[in-house]
Amino acid sequence: MASSLLHLSLLLCFLFSSSPLFLSFSNGSTAVTTTILENIQSLSFDEGYTQIFGDTNLMLQSDGKRVHLSLDQRTGSGFASQDLYLHGFFSASIKLPSDYAAGVVVAFYMTNGDLYEKNHDELDFEFLGNIRGREWRVQTNVYGNGSTAVGREERYDLWFDPTEAFHQYSILWSHDQIIFYIDNIPIRGIVRNESMGGAFPSKPMSLYATIWDGSNWATSGGRYKVNYKLAPYIAEFANLVLHGCAINPIDHSSACNSLEDNHYNTITMSSEQRSAMQNFRKKHMTYSYCYDRKRYPVPLKECLITRRDSMKLYRSNGVKFTNQRHNVKHHHHRSSTYLADSTI
Ligand SMILES: *[C@@H]1O[C@H](CO)[C@@H](O)[C@H](O)[C@H]1NC(C)=O
Ligand SMILES: *[C@@H]1O[C@H](CO)[C@@H](O)[C@H](O)[C@H]1NC(C)=O
Ligand SMILES: *[C@@H]1O[C@H](CO)[C@@H](O)[C@H](O)[C@H]1NC(C)=O
Repeated sequence: MASSLLHLSLLLCFLFSSSPLFLSFSNGSTAVTTTILENIQSLSFDEGYTQIFGDTNLMLQSDGKRVHLSLDQRTGSGFASQDLYLHGFFSASIKLPSDYAAGVVVAFYMTNGDLYEKNHDELDFEFLGNIRGREWRVQTNVYGNGSTAVGREERYDLWFDPTEAFHQYSILWSHDQIIFYIDNIPIRGIVRNESMGGAFPSKPMSLYATIWDGSNWATSGGRYKVNYKLAPYIAEFANLVLHGCAINPIDHSSACNSLEDNHYNTITMSSEQRSAMQNFRKKHMTYSYCYDRKRYPVPLKECLITRRDSMKLYRSNGVKFTNQRHNVKHHHHRSSTYLADSTI
C-alpha cells in the first residue's frame, strides 16, 4: 500500500511538472484522467510569492522551487502570492511535520482580510496538528463577505500519512463553484446559491501558506499544546501553482479577459470524480457544520441532509461516531464553536 502510494505520488509529481497538466486521480483500482486546465506550470518562489513573516524560518530549497516553513519558540513563518486573484486554480504539494506535532497549524488558504477588514472572503485548508500515533486532521472552511460568525467547517482524516510524502492540495474557485481537491480527488464542492447570500467568496484574494502555534485550539480543542522541545516543526511546500486571473491591486482591473475567467466556471467533475468525492466524504469526513445541531439548530440552507442519516452517522455536535475502540469516552467537549475536533 505504502509503495503504491509512493508510485502514485511520483506519478502525480510527474504530471504536475509537465505541461499541459492533466488533473487526474487514481485510487489504486481506478485511474481517471481529465484535462481541465492547460499549461499549468508550477512557479518558483520568486516568480509568484513573497515572504510575509518568520525571517529565517522561511527557507528556499531546490532553486526556489521548494519552500520550508518552520515553527520554533521564536516564530512561525509564512508566505503569500504577490498578486491578488479573482478566480483560478491554486495548488501546492505539502509535506507536514512528522512525529508529534500537537498544536501546530499549517494553513494553505486564500483571503483578502487585509483589504476588507469587515467583509473579507476566505477559502481554507487547515492542518490541525496531531498527537503521536494519530493522523493529522484536515479542515476546510469558507467565508464570504465577512460571514465569520457562520463557520462552514468540515474536517477529514486522510487515507495516507501526510508527513511521509508530498501530497497535492488544491482549490478551484470560479464564479459559480468552489472545489477542494486532495491529490486531485475532489473532497468538497460548493455551488453558488443565492441561499448562501454573500457567503460565497466574490472579491479578489491572495494565496497564503503559513505555519503557526495554534495551541489554544488546534488539537483536540487545545488539550494538546505545542512542545518546543521537539522544534523546529517544518512544513515543506513544492509544486506551487497559481493559475488564476491576477488583479491589479490598485484599481482591481483583471488581467484576464472574461473568456479566460469564464474558463474556470466550465470545469466540472466527471461522474468518476463525483463518485470518488462521495466515497471520500462517506469514509473520511469526521465533522461537518451541516450536522452540528448544537451550533446550528436549523441547518444552514445549503445543507442538503436527511435528519435520519445525520443522526445515524454524526453526533449532535457534528462529529462523526467512531468505533468504541478509538473513542475517548466522557471527555468534555469544549464549546461547539471550537474549530478543532474533540474526538481525535
Ligand atoms: C476506489 O474506487 C473504487 C471504484 O470507484 C471504489 O469502489 C473504492 O472504494 C475506491 N477506493 C477508495 C480508497 O476510495
Ligand atoms: C439553492 O439551494 C436550494 C436549497 O438547497 C435549492 O432548492 C435551489 O435549487 C438552489 N438553487 C440553485 C440555483 O442551485
Ligand atoms: C457584503 O457586505 C456589505 C457590507 O457589510 C454589504 O453592503 C453588501 O451588500 C454585501 N454583499 C453581498 C453580496 O451580500
